[in-house]
Amino acid sequence: MNYRITVLPGDGVGPEVMAEGMKVLEAVAKKFGHTFKLEYELIGAVAIDKTDFALPEETLKMCKKSDAVMLAAVGDPRYDDPKLPVHPEDGLLALRKGLGLFANIRPVKVFDELVNASTLKAEVLKGTDFIFVRELTGGVYFAKPKKEWLTTKGRKATDSMTYSEQEIERIVRVGFELARSRKKRLVSVDKANVLKSSRLWRQVAIEVSKDYPDVALSHVLVDACAMQLIRTPTAFDVIVTENLFGDILTDESAQLAGSMGMLPSASLAGIPQSGKPTFGLFEPIHGSAPSIAGKDIANPIATILTVAMMLRYSLALEKEAASVEKAVEVVLKQGYRTDDIMADGNTRVGTRQMGDLIAAEV
Ligand code: IPM
Ligand code: MG
Repeated sequence: MNYRITVLPGDGVGPEVMAEGMKVLEAVAKKFGHTFKLEYELIGAVAIDKTDFALPEETLKMCKKSDAVMLAAVGDPRYDDPKLPVHPEDGLLALRKGLGLFANIRPVKVFDELVNASTLKAEVLKGTDFIFVRELTGGVYFAKPKKEWLTTKGRKATDSMTYSEQEIERIVRVGFELARSRKKRLVSVDKANVLKSSRLWRQVAIEVSKDYPDVALSHVLVDACAMQLIRTPTAFDVIVTENLFGDILTDESAQLAGSMGMLPSASLAGIPQSGKPTFGLFEPIHGSAPSIAGKDIANPIATILTVAMMLRYSLALEKEAASVEKAVEVVLKQGYRTDDIMADGNTRVGTRQMGDLIAAEV
């Protein structure tokens, strides 16, 4: 089959890890007889440099015409000053909103080979394998109003958390669908002991659960969830939560896997149902890591696993996705490691070599 993919390498280590992701995609194309037409576009700081916009119109247009979008990372310390009119991150937020990507799926899987790469005890981590479903186009991130103003007593600022029942329902459904395809347990995370928006969230989750009698729904407060995630990460299977809670908890969870360099993510515009393609944006969880950019040391595995998610969710190519995931596992078993996951007895490799090894294994 022929597929059209928009590729957004972005900033920092973005272009390097994306090159490895595309190398692996090329290996999939050869092995399974597909053609992936890649269209490279700008986003983030590189886009601001060239066009003054973090998300040029041309980029958004191209994304809308493609079957899926791959993005590596945005962010650049040159644009850190909060007083600047535009920031690289604005491009990512505009892309999520512009493409209607309300469902962010972040799997957290601790590979057996890497249980010693984390700061947590191996016996706590072993077997950890869950999926976060984070709401991505609502909540405080897209608050209205979102502003800072001057009062007679000094400055004030606001971003309030608002959710409609429709927004809650569709994201909770994503959680139920994924739970149904796994261990049939869904944890909904909120702050219903304090927040009105969370009380509505919980109510809607309970209402939607009537359509999924085969899935056990439970509710956990966000602070307790933060604690349980590092105490007994193996207790979780599918977790659904709102935007900001999800942002925080997924970074925390990334530490379970030993390195941010290991985790992929998908942001979908629809409710995924197995075997049916859903348009989405696919990106590793990590940022642009400017301090290690251009040095051939960044871990490309998150981007490579992101390619697998794209194959699975947006192209409905399950076999192909599984072959990429398997290849990553094999190469880790062989002892090859980038800097971030290096331990005694392993073989240190750079970004490109890691990509070569995984592509060869596909
Ligand atoms: C993430 C990132 C983004 C977010 C930033 C870069 C805007 O932290 O994808 O989790 O907060 O959503
Ligand atoms: Mg984040």
